[in-house]
Amino acid sequence: MTKHIFRTKSISEFISETKQDGGMNRVLGTFGLTMLGIGAIVGTGIFVLTGVAAANYSGPALIISFIIAALACGCAALCYAEFAAMVPVAGSAYTYGYVALGEFWAWVIGWDLILEYAFAVSAVAIGWSGYFNNILTNLGIVLPKALTLAPYDGGIVNLPAVLILCVIAFINIHGVRQSATVNNIIVGIKLAVVALFLALGFSHVDAANWVPFMPYGWSGVFAGASIIFFAYIGFDAVSTAAEEVKNPQKDLPRGIILSLIICTILYIAVSAILTGMVPYLQFKTTAAPVAYALQLVGYHWGAAAVSVGAICGLTSVLLVMCLGQSRILFVMSRDGLLPRFFGHINKTTKTPVRSSLLVAVVSSILAGLVPIGIVAEMVNIGTLAAFIIVSASVIILRKKAPDRVRPFRCPCVPLVPILSILFCGILVIMLPTVTQIRFVVWLAIGLVIYFGYGYKHSIITKAQKGTLTAAQAAAADDSPS
Ligand code: ALA
Repeated sequence: MTKHIFRTKSISEFISETKQDGGMNRVLGTFGLTMLGIGAIVGTGIFVLTGVAAANYSGPALIISFIIAALACGCAALCYAEFAAMVPVAGSAYTYGYVALGEFWAWVIGWDLILEYAFAVSAVAIGWSGYFNNILTNLGIVLPKALTLAPYDGGIVNLPAVLILCVIAFINIHGVRQSATVNNIIVGIKLAVVALFLALGFSHVDAANWVPFMPYGWSGVFAGASIIFFAYIGFDAVSTAAEEVKNPQKDLPRGIILSLIICTILYIAVSAILTGMVPYLQFKTTAAPVAYALQLVGYHWGAAAVSVGAICGLTSVLLVMCLGQSRILFVMSRDGLLPRFFGHINKTTKTPVRSSLLVAVVSSILAGLVPIGIVAEMVNIGTLAAFIIVSASVIILRKKAPDRVRPFRCPCVPLVPILSILFCGILVIMLPTVTQIRFVVWLAIGLVIYFGYGYKHSIITKAQKGTLTAAQAAAADDSPS
């Protein structure tokens, strides 16, 4: 059994599986992928969490927290880029784990990614609902609390959060080209809004607001980094679109790295100006710090524009994260670790309709019924764990298969992957203990599902029982249409 659960899958097995059901449409290039990355990255983190982190943890040193989180993500991104170019398959880190470490670790990463994406989608949908209600209230329309809050918070269901997830599922089901076009428009709007904030805020910076620079010391700065890490999540989603990319070996590393660089520059600029415009303690009173800062210096129209931009920003995060989650479920199902029913591509839309619907249903239940705090806390730890395993996989595969063709090579191996593991490890340690405990419970549930279902239904098990290759076993399996 030990031998079986650590059995790896070859890259060619994965690639041949991508041709089942005719495969997905290859429509994305470097530009589309970079926009997809920015679409997934810029959202709740910059529009909501900057205030929380500055007021409670980092103070004006928020900019250092952003740099620390960027270093962790930068090192992890280089590791992701090496794998994404080498194994251009939709499963992202899950697939990389399968190639380097074997089925058991692949399942652990896949289970982590479900935590990252499903919970991130739900957290962002709840944030979206908050901004949406804000805009409606400003227009004089007040929705009943029963329909805008989770039961835990005194409501019945967070209906706007559920409805936006249904709209996103509809767009994603209709194809990645449609999703990419909608995403490009939305990303354009949110980048324009961030640029507007920088232009308006620049002349209102008062250097006195940067003193004291580190009111909570270095521990505050690192705790701030572990929260603000959320703002960078999403560059990894670029790799989940691998099977829809025209030239994955070249475009994937570029898309991952470019989107991360652009967002890092934007974040550093926004955090410097934001903390320069407003004394950091004032952020305790607002959930919309960017709009709040503009309002404070008299730009009410600018604040309104930022709110619209934030809605756009959150919408594109939802779009790309839902796309990513459905692709990961799709690949895990294709491998037999989850029911193969979800590993089917619809002949008309050429998209994994069933896994997209599953994502919509599960994240709607979470977003509609669970409060944002509990949902959001879990996202960072799941993502950090996946980054750590991917970075370790780079080192392991360089040793196990040194001659394998690597269209993109992570520089300075093993130094960069080790730094990635260290930075991400520190951020995990800085997260609240209750989050760490919940994460262990989540992993335990994952193990029960793996040994109760995935282990028995894995196409590798089926291949081992007969004379079929893993890819043939997958093709021979009764895939319902
Ligand atoms: N990075 C994404 C956001 O900040 C998840 O919303």
